[in-house]
Amino acid sequence: MHPKLTILDNPLSRHHMTILRKKDTEPDAFRTATRRLATTLAYEAARDWEVEEFQVETPMEITTGERIAKGIVAVAVLRAGLGLLEGLTRQIPDLRVGYVGLFRDEETAQPQEYYTKLPPLADTHVLVLEPMLATGGSLSWAVDKVKQAGATDVTALVVCAAPAGVERMAEDHPDVPIVAAAVDRELDYKYYIRPGLGDMGDRLFGTTG
Ligand code: URA
Repeated sequence: MHPKLTILDNPLSRHHMTILRKKDTEPDAFRTATRRLATTLAYEAARDWEVEEFQVETPMEITTGERIAKGIVAVAVLRAGLGLLEGLTRQIPDLRVGYVGLFRDEETAQPQEYYTKLPPLADTHVLVLEPMLATGGSLSWAVDKVKQAGATDVTALVVCAAPAGVERMAEDHPDVPIVAAAVDRELDYKYYIRPGLGDMGDRLFGTTG
């Protein structure tokens, strides 16, 4: 397993995860549950972030406040990563957002790049949003991309992982923490996660069937 893997461990997260798993959950409810999970994933990722103290005046007196010391960037792996973005932009007002566009070759499950747009990444907390960590090919590739662009502090936010994807990240990027809502049993022969939740992009955007 990955040395820096955290699996969300609270009933509310499992409740939202179950909404995502249920096959008849409609896109609107699916997006809402994804947004809620994104918030929890972000809070977990931020657990060890440094803060700087500053003086703040309450209506009663001056006290010491805290703010996150570094900038924060979310990098959504298109297209399913978009589902996690809204939860993050709501929680982190000064969030900067980058995108990496990949599609998965259905035969090999290897990522193919079609779009990349990244803000400055040096000296920021970078959250790579890859909801389905299946083979790990896309996430590993996306993390390579952000590291090449100057990121040194990267965390992956994942909704549902397969053991194979976690292992791949342990080999390729053991320094990159993974925060996941669930780690499932296995990948099937088409590289879908079992029991999983199906195709995350299709379910978010109603492109199934
Ligand atoms: N991507 C998905 O959307 N679902 C899977 O199960 C695997 C990869």
